[in-house]
Amino acid sequence: MSTAISPTAYNYKVVRQFAIMTVVWGILGMGLGVFIASQLVWPQLNLDLPWTSFGRLRPLHTNLVIFAFGGCALFGTSYYVVQRTCQTRLISDSMAAFTFWGWQAVIVGALITLPMGFTTTKEYAELEWPLAILLAIVWVTYALVFFGTIVKRKTKHIYVGNWFYGAFIVVTTMLHIVNHISLPVSLFKSYSAYAGATDAMIQWWYGHNAVGFFLTTGFLGMMYYFVPKQAERPIYSYRLSIVHFWALITLYIWAGPHHLHYTALPDWAQSLGMVMSIILLAPSWGGMINGMMTLSGAWHKLRTDPILRFLVVSLAFYGMSTFEGPMMAIKTVNSLSHYTDWTIGHVHAGALGWVAMISIGAVYHMIPKLYGRQQMHSVGLINAHFWLATIGTVLYIASMWVNGITQGLMWRAINDDGTLTYSFVEALQASHPGFIVRALGGAFFASGMLLMAYNVYRTVRAANPVEAEEATKIVVVGAH
Ligand code: HEM
Ligand code: HEM
Repeated sequence: MSTAISPTAYNYKVVRQFAIMTVVWGILGMGLGVFIASQLVWPQLNLDLPWTSFGRLRPLHTNLVIFAFGGCALFGTSYYVVQRTCQTRLISDSMAAFTFWGWQAVIVGALITLPMGFTTTKEYAELEWPLAILLAIVWVTYALVFFGTIVKRKTKHIYVGNWFYGAFIVVTTMLHIVNHISLPVSLFKSYSAYAGATDAMIQWWYGHNAVGFFLTTGFLGMMYYFVPKQAERPIYSYRLSIVHFWALITLYIWAGPHHLHYTALPDWAQSLGMVMSIILLAPSWGGMINGMMTLSGAWHKLRTDPILRFLVVSLAFYGMSTFEGPMMAIKTVNSLSHYTDWTIGHVHAGALGWVAMISIGAVYHMIPKLYGRQQMHSVGLINAHFWLATIGTVLYIASMWVNGITQGLMWRAINDDGTLTYSFVEALQASHPGFIVRALGGAFFASGMLLMAYNVYRTVRAANPVEAEEATKIVVVGAH
């Protein structure tokens, strides 16, 4: 579908591309999640080949779901939101197109290099230096397009959603560049510029803020636009949203040491990370409450609108995981939860319940608007998707809680003579039923994504090019 290059029309081409790829990468990343979850149930699925082994596919899963699925959702929605709230076209079509193709190239690079075993070994920062440099270039271009569009906005005000997207873009640039400073020794091997405990601290300053800014702040930008739009209500408290923004970004950056409790990191740094994490509960819940209360007077819509249900349930999971996180950051609790499946359950409460659900809701909201349709092809299928996703998430996290606490307690149990009560293998055997339930939950979630793909395909196919073109017109009437 062609988009006329006109200053009076939004650039929806790039938004459509990112929206479609969100669904495609979602299916691949989550499908791979189900595969690696099944490997933990049936180890034979490692197939005795290096490139299909759990150790190589696990980082591919995290890269595909976080950067490919989550990243495309963030690029697509931020380009949509910034244009509509600034009532202007993106500053440059060619730069926006470069961010789309460059980002896909990074992901394809990950798809090839990670199974081959090329990795920096730093979690969520595994891509070797040539891909890391490409990623940095794409990201800086993204920042130029986003902030350039804000500069040439037609509105006086910068909507709060853009503040969140803006912080996510700026901080991700900083984290990615600092954590990747390294010395290349060949095309696919480099060594970090940092060593020992410093390296660990920089890595988890990066890793935690990848959660805080990539998986949280960016998606909060999404929340501040799509929840009010879908509920057709103004945001509950604009003042609270500003307090939420400043408190969240001020606190998040200090919480990284909670990933390094009881390590060689100085004790004061661990305690600082713990305290900052506990305080972080307040802004996190402030944001969640602001989103939820936006539905005041519109709760009845939940009965008929499954897109709104996706958005609201995502906020509930956000609230849950941001309560659980501060608890796990307490050193004594962490001494039980660390290294166990409890962490994996916490991750997916955030990842499936919050990140994936809000993205799915936002894409369902955008697709008809991007293609000039009244609504998605089938509301019934969205509803079925909603239940598959919700049940899948609950199965996933409940099984991981049971596994995590079982593992933690079995590992620390000691006999009177000081020997361990259980061997590691016994704890693994006790975890087997939980692994099966997790794989089942994942399969529920991933099959919902297939329904989504079909629904999106039918909606896009039904679009008539004239209506789709018409949909890009900028209507300056005060509302966005
Ligand atoms: C169908 C859905 C999914 C399934 C079945 C699944 C499965 C898995 C499995 C089996 C692991 C490895 C656990 C281990 O090492 O014990 C994992 C790790 C991980 N997954 Fe997923 N996943 C899914 C969706 C997602 C999504 C949507 C995201 C992010 C948006 C995500 C983010 C992660 C992260 C960050 C880790 C690493 C956790 C850690 O190191 O603590 N996953 N996933
Ligand atoms: C106030 C908010 C939060 C706090 C204080 C927090 C705290 C924690 C803690 C203490 C851990 C365990 C560290 C360890 O034992 O190794 C953890 C792990 C993790 N959390 Fe959170 N969490 C929060 C919210 C979230 C959200 C909303 C998400 C996802 C969207 C998330 C994603 C993760 C991931 C991916 C890990 C695993 C990192 C790894 O070891 O690979 N967290 N978090």
